[in-house]
Amino acid sequence: MLIPNNSPTFLPWEESEPAPRWEEIFGNNNPLALEIGCGVGDFITQMAALHPAINFIALDFYNKGCIKTCKRIDKTTLTNVRVLRAEARSFIEACIPTGSLRTVVINCPDPWPKLRHRKRRLVNSGFVSYLSQFMQPDADFYFATDFVDYGLDVAEFMTAQPGFMNQLGTDPFRHALEGYPISKYMRRFLDLGQPIYYVHYRRA
Ligand SMILES: C[S@@+](CC[C@H](N)C(=O)[O-])C[C@H]1O[C@@H](n2cnc3c(N)ncnc32)[C@H](O)[C@@H]1O
Repeated sequence: MLIPNNSPTFLPWEESEPAPRWEEIFGNNNPLALEIGCGVGDFITQMAALHPAINFIALDFYNKGCIKTCKRIDKTTLTNVRVLRAEARSFIEACIPTGSLRTVVINCPDPWPKLRHRKRRLVNSGFVSYLSQFMQPDADFYFATDFVDYGLDVAEFMTAQPGFMNQLGTDPFRHALEGYPISKYMRRFLDLGQPIYYVHYRRA
């Protein structure tokens, strides 16, 4: 039995239900940004405060994470965030209009470190190619990981990803990104002295 989430920031949605009407939900038609795997919401809270004219959808299939994210948002005056508990692919398919996302953010996705589990990783070339149809032209794609092998893999396949331009000059990845908030997992690994691998591309 799931702990109920009664926060006004939480948007209950089940797979059988129609897609949310984002303009009605946010009360404006500002651009939409999606964070996949928001965890406990520290990144989205900072990001939404930095970009009040963007509407943020914070997505995670972890109920307690959604509850913590909502609590964090509810302590602020932010009105540009909604939190959903759903699996990324089914949510995007059902709820995101084609070509509508201004930004997609994925921070520290589960690394599946064992070789035999690598195929379970969320972010791969096929997933980015799938995502791209839901992104506006000029939409930003941010990926960050504390896991070196995952960072190098994403940095490498993105150089050959059709329809995307690197925003880090000739660097396939960086260890710092100006103006980009630090998430809980990033903080944890930075505190251990381990670098974060940031990748930033724009849909061409
Ligand atoms: C390692 S945590 C990182 C959390 C946060 N992004 C951070 O950097 O602190 C990964 C999160 O992604 C969520 N997640 C993983 N795969 C997902 C999927 N397919 N759909 C929705 N959430 C997912 C997990 O529930 C978890 O909260």
